[in-house]
Amino acid sequence: MAVKAKILLMLSVSSTMLFFLLEFSNKLSFSVITYQLNIYKQNSCSCEKCLSEDKMFQFHHMNHSVKPFLTAKSELSEEDYAWWKNIQRERGDYSTYKATVKELFEIFPAEPDYEKPRSDRCRTCAVVGNSANLLKSHYGPLIDSQDIVIRINYGKVKGYEEDVGSKTTHRVMYPESSSRLDNTTHLVLFAFKIKDLQWLKKAFLTGFFGRSYTSTKSTIKANKDLVMVVNPALMKHAHVVWLKKKGVYPSTGFMTLILALHMCDEVHVFGFGADSDGNWSHYFEVLRNKKFKTGIHPGQQEFAVIEELANQKTIKFYRGY
Ligand SMILES: *[C@@H]1O[C@H](CO)[C@@H](O)[C@H](O)[C@H]1NC(C)=O
Ligand SMILES: *[C@@H]1O[C@H](CO)[C@@H](O)[C@H](O)[C@H]1NC(C)=O
Ligand SMILES: *[C@@H]1O[C@H](CO)[C@@H](O)[C@H](O)[C@H]1NC(C)=O
Repeated sequence: MAVKAKILLMLSVSSTMLFFLLEFSNKLSFSVITYQLNIYKQNSCSCEKCLSEDKMFQFHHMNHSVKPFLTAKSELSEEDYAWWKNIQRERGDYSTYKATVKELFEIFPAEPDYEKPRSDRCRTCAVVGNSANLLKSHYGPLIDSQDIVIRINYGKVKGYEEDVGSKTTHRVMYPESSSRLDNTTHLVLFAFKIKDLQWLKKAFLTGFFGRSYTSTKSTIKANKDLVMVVNPALMKHAHVVWLKKKGVYPSTGFMTLILALHMCDEVHVFGFGADSDGNWSHYFEVLRNKKFKTGIHPGQQEFAVIEELANQKTIKFYRGY
């Protein structure tokens, strides 16, 4: 014990000494050394590996200058706005966008409620996609053990707890995929047009009676203090940098994964991809079209990026059953 304490003391003194010790000590386990090294280096979080480190950018496309959420103070550049405006070809202009965002922060938190990186914290996240490969996976407890559990659109919980868990700290949606949330779940809005931002405000206050490409709920039940709006600049970043502009724009699931890379130190990914029979479907409903058709979204590229991130051990990817 005394020897160990002495060794640990020396570790924090010199890393050269560490390698010297490594040569001559066969008693220290590697995990202890790694842990001590992390402390020595003053990492930005307490996990083994932190996504919030700036140096991650060299190897992955992480860019922490791209802020994940809109705030009352954030400015979307005209260039980023131009990309965003093009995805659904809505009429409207930059000044309408800015005025709409300004109004949003009159009722929603000016600073979204999420934990910033800290050297003594490890923010772990589960991103739960809707793939049928979750069925019989028994991932429920593993998903629930993460600090943050992000679910996507209609991803159901009730009746599927054993495989998908029961905790939902964040639910990602857009107006056409909105659903009621309980008081403790963050509503994370992906806006694809100015009308979506207007919907958010009206659905909480007066009811929204505009039109969209499909029916949209006119009201929403959720805690307005937990509302977060994804920064269109992050959506563009996912498309331009991560997917090299393939497809018209990325799927919500893929953008949610990129979002998680920006708000977590450790990302665990569930429910993406086909099941073991090669079918692409949802765990809570049978999709008619079983072939992998993702329409305007570059599904193949998205999956390739997920595989790559998993191979590099940037994320932990659970392939399901
Ligand atoms: C990171 O993002 C910021 C903001 O969009 C951009 O100005 C900068 O050039 C990016 N950095 C790199 C290395 O691409
Ligand atoms: C929901 O949470 C807010 C605080 O974020 C609180 O003011 C409100 O009373 C809660 N409502 C219910 C029904 O628990
Ligand atoms: C999956 O695909 C196989 C054929 O590839 C088919 O026989 C099976 O019924 C499909 N399963 C589901 C749940 O759709």
